[in-house]
Amino acid sequence: MAIDFPPQRVAVTGASGLLGRALVTALASRGHAVVGGYRELPQPSPAAVTPLKLDLLNAESIAEFVGTARPDCVIHAAALTDVDRCERDPEFALCVNTIGAQSLSKALEGSGCRMIFLSTDYVFDGREGPYDESAVPNPINVYGHTKNVAEEIVRTIFPDWAIVRSASFLGIGLPNRPTWAEKLVITMLERPPLTVATDQRSNITPLEFLASAIIEIVEGRGTGLRHVAGDEILSRYEFALKLVRLFGKSDDTIQAVSYRDLNRLAPRPLNGGLATRFPLRTPQIPLDVALDRWKTEFLQART
Ligand SMILES: NC(=O)c1ccc[n+]([C@@H]2O[C@H](COP(=O)([O-])OP(=O)(O)OC[C@H]3O[C@@H](n4cnc5c(N)ncnc54)[C@H](OP(=O)(O)O)[C@@H]3O)[C@@H](O)[C@H]2O)c1
Repeated sequence: MAIDFPPQRVAVTGASGLLGRALVTALASRGHAVVGGYRELPQPSPAAVTPLKLDLLNAESIAEFVGTARPDCVIHAAALTDVDRCERDPEFALCVNTIGAQSLSKALEGSGCRMIFLSTDYVFDGREGPYDESAVPNPINVYGHTKNVAEEIVRTIFPDWAIVRSASFLGIGLPNRPTWAEKLVITMLERPPLTVATDQRSNITPLEFLASAIIEIVEGRGTGLRHVAGDEILSRYEFALKLVRLFGKSDDTIQAVSYRDLNRLAPRPLNGGLATRFPLRTPQIPLDVALDRWKTEFLQART
């Protein structure tokens, strides 16, 4: 695709992650020079990406990553994203999500590099979502807290920053790391019934849309705080119903419960979700269209 903005040297942390994998591919196809930060170097390396090792828990590794990558822009997508794991091990979550972001920011300070930090709707308490950029964060779990403090650090250190808050990604995980949507379908197909909450709501965000929107920000349109999420806010139950129907199963494959009945460790923002005051030019992908594509990819990944 023709690029209407000078190509940049863009470093993506968490390049093996759900969003990271989508981003490095999309950035490379736009003509940017892409450096991927990997905790473990992938074998073989993804095409068009220069892989570099990066461990956010190790200052030397961060310095080497920054010194070798020499980025114009960093997209910091690496994080400990398992919300219950963060709750179980708050010190570790703080080290990866907050101190890791701080160490990376400090290593880049003064270099003129732009920082785009990935954050989450979990910085809000979920009492009266959806939240736009003017809402005041009030995290109710460790994950949300670690990301909220990291946001403040990024704002303080970089003169040129963007914070992109998003919500519930719709994508395909690695074979040993299925996404939550994949887990729902696997349970629905192999071990019904599906038990899902009717009282936890958020946007469902197609990754293709999010990656394109972030690239719009990389290419110069959009700084500061941005909420970038799919335009449909659904309860987990409503989303599961869509999946059940997409795979031709009956609605009673689902057992509706309240979030409290799931006995999850970390509290979740229930009436959550994101709205925005600053829509980007990147068009939304209607959820039903994204789900049709997602189903094709899901079936391909399992053959
Ligand atoms: N998933 C969602 O629904 C969602 C919603 C809103 C916001 N977000 C935010 O979006 C970003 C991307 O999320 P995601 O779901 O794509 O993440 P993910 O799939 O869980 O991947 C996390 C990435 O972080 C890397 N990582 C973890 N610990 C690291 C460390 N110590 N040093 C270096 N890298 C490390 C992982 O490397 P390994 O592969 O080696 O473990 C992996 O590449 C995160 O900042 C998250 O908070 C996610």
